Amino acid sequence: IGARVIALGIGYLFGLFQTGYLYGKSQGIDIRNEGSGNAGTTNSLRVLGIKAGLITFAGDLCKAILAVLLVKVLFRNAYPDAVRILELYAGFGAVLGHNFPFYLKFKGGKGIACTSGMILAVCPMAAPVCLVLFIGSIAITRYVSLGSILVVTSYLVQVLIFGHMGYLHIDAAYLPEFYVVSACFTAMALWRHRSNIGRLLHGTENKFTFKKNKQE
Ligand code: G3P
Repeated sequence: IGARVIALGIGYLFGLFQTGYLYGKSQGIDIRNEGSGNAGTTNSLRVLGIKAGLITFAGDLCKAILAVLLVKVLFRNAYPDAVRILELYAGFGAVLGHNFPFYLKFKGGKGIACTSGMILAVCPMAAPVCLVLFIGSIAITRYVSLGSILVVTSYLVQVLIFGHMGYLHIDAAYLPEFYVVSACFTAMALWRHRSNIGRLLHGTENKFTFKKNKQE
């Protein structure tokens, strides 16, 4: 239990680095007061432009990867059998820190770039399908939120399949927990997208747009 809490805590601290919010502040804008009000990649693209969107995505992706790698280095010798599940907790901590940063009154993002970083660092074999669904769905519909929802749901489905096939490189004793924590990523993302889901169902969701540069 102690190692899990530490892994979550380390992830949370990494997740606090709010790339989109900080970049916006450097431009004199609180991203959370503009566009959809979300402090993530999509709203950075929407409000601040391509450069801001790319920086936000890279920063939020990398912070989850770094949290996972740090936990891996810290715990791989002490808990060799449990380190895979601890990596997952680090990723989930990063999503929690990103979504609920205490210093921004717990108003952060929706955690998709962070979750993508976790997928790359912990379960990279799930990444190709997630990426194809993400890009394909956005190309067809121009709804980024739909792409995000497909990423987190297809991640969970793939984890269940890969786990069943024995491809997750995890001690069998930790497999059910791996499934449960993975389901937490999906549930968290769906919950954070609840207003997007409502708009998707009503056909009123924002289509993907971005500013060519911040002066426009
Ligand atoms: O990852 C966030 C995206 O799925 C939706 O962003 O700003 O349109 O709510 P937004």
